[in-house]
Amino acid sequence: MEKNKVYIETYGCQMNLADSEIVKSILKDKGYGFTDDLNSANVILLNTCSVRDNAEQRIYGRLGNIKKQKDNNPGTVIGILGCMAERLRKDLIEEKQIVDLVVGPDEYRRLPEFIDTAYAGEKGIGVKLSKTETYDDIIPYREDGLSAWISVMRGCDKFCTFCVVPFTRGRERSRNLDSVVNEVKQLSGRGFKEVTLLGQNVNSYNDNGRDFADLLAAVAVVDSSMRIRFTTSHPQDLSDKLLYTIAEHENLCNYIHLPVQSGSDRILELMNRTYTIEHYLNLIEKARKIIPGVSFSTDIIAGFPTETEEDHKMTLEVMRKVRYDGAYMFKYSPREGTKAYKMKDDVPEEVKGRRLSEIIDLQQKISYEINQTLINTTETVLVEGFSRKSDEFHSGRTGTNKVVIFPVMNGVKAGDYVSVKINRATSATLFGEVEKILAIEKTSITKTG
Ligand code: 5AD
Ligand code: SF4
Repeated sequence: MEKNKVYIETYGCQMNLADSEIVKSILKDKGYGFTDDLNSANVILLNTCSVRDNAEQRIYGRLGNIKKQKDNNPGTVIGILGCMAERLRKDLIEEKQIVDLVVGPDEYRRLPEFIDTAYAGEKGIGVKLSKTETYDDIIPYREDGLSAWISVMRGCDKFCTFCVVPFTRGRERSRNLDSVVNEVKQLSGRGFKEVTLLGQNVNSYNDNGRDFADLLAAVAVVDSSMRIRFTTSHPQDLSDKLLYTIAEHENLCNYIHLPVQSGSDRILELMNRTYTIEHYLNLIEKARKIIPGVSFSTDIIAGFPTETEEDHKMTLEVMRKVRYDGAYMFKYSPREGTKAYKMKDDVPEEVKGRRLSEIIDLQQKISYEINQTLINTTETVLVEGFSRKSDEFHSGRTGTNKVVIFPVMNGVKAGDYVSVKINRATSATLFGEVEKILAIEKTSITKTG
């Protein structure tokens, strides 16, 4: 039987999606092909996430299903990649007998070797973290499309006390600026219209003194018809220079993901977030002055150890003050090995759940209200394709990352920029009609959103 069909399933953040493309590139170089059909695969790889317990539980559940595939085809190689690899290597290999290889995020170059070992009937583990690996020379394997992720740095040195990332992904390191720019050039040549630069904390990007603002500026001028996004920013390191750079370049999207995590200074200190709410709010105000119309999203954790009702109210308060366009909201989940793991997880589950619901309800209300104010305005939208529900509608996004649905119009296709007059809005979606197709020459795009 041909032994080269690989199936990859990716969990967790966008960083992992980008890593799966690196993995595919490494495997393709060695002659492997890919399949979307689990049942016909010889190699099944799960690229995993450890950030919260429920992510890990889902993956364990999935391994249960995959076991059936292995029972039917005993030669199938099953591998765990990514963040869980480092954390759970013993457990995975010893207790979950079906796993043949466990490869952490800095050892993907050795994956072909591990697969060969597994075919020979032996288990393989490669989970060493590296201080230097950036896969800079590897061009990720991407299908043609409009939108691409580019990871510009790996790891994290922030050590927020709740977060397992510094342990699973290791020390922070940046890719070479010119190699990122070259990748963007190639994507532009292939017709991509949007790239998102990725890192756990992009603001500490540093390539021999060239900082993230330098990188953004260099990427922005590659192709002015290409939208540039980035994530994630840490509130401590977001510089004025970066804000001015965003304001200066038409195609740098007016959208900043700026996790606040909690509205209480006491909790922020316990989280080792290294800023106060006063600093955070000043930053938001400054960004709004420098980049008119900028929108913000955030991450919030409910029920961190010792969080009181008063702390929780402060989180609701900061949400009311900032009025985020969107938020990713989570219940605190203790992670082994982190500092917070040693604190007592003392907020009862039902209190965490209730606080999280209050946070979600408030965010929905704010998103709805913000979106209502957009009715009768005109937005520049990048058309992404048909809407999920109907081929009679197109779906696209504004520069501020809002989804817009509008009737298909003659001459409009995916990859075009159109101006859309908004006539209706929910908390998650804008609806409207195309007013005109915007010129898509590489130099003529107006500032969006
Ligand atoms: N529990 C809950 N949420 C967490 N996050 C990271 N670690 C945890 C944890 N242990 C959230 C943070 C972070 C986002 C990526 O995931 O909000 O910004
Ligand atoms: Fe985790 Fe904090 Fe680093 Fe984000 S900045 S990856 S939350 S340690």
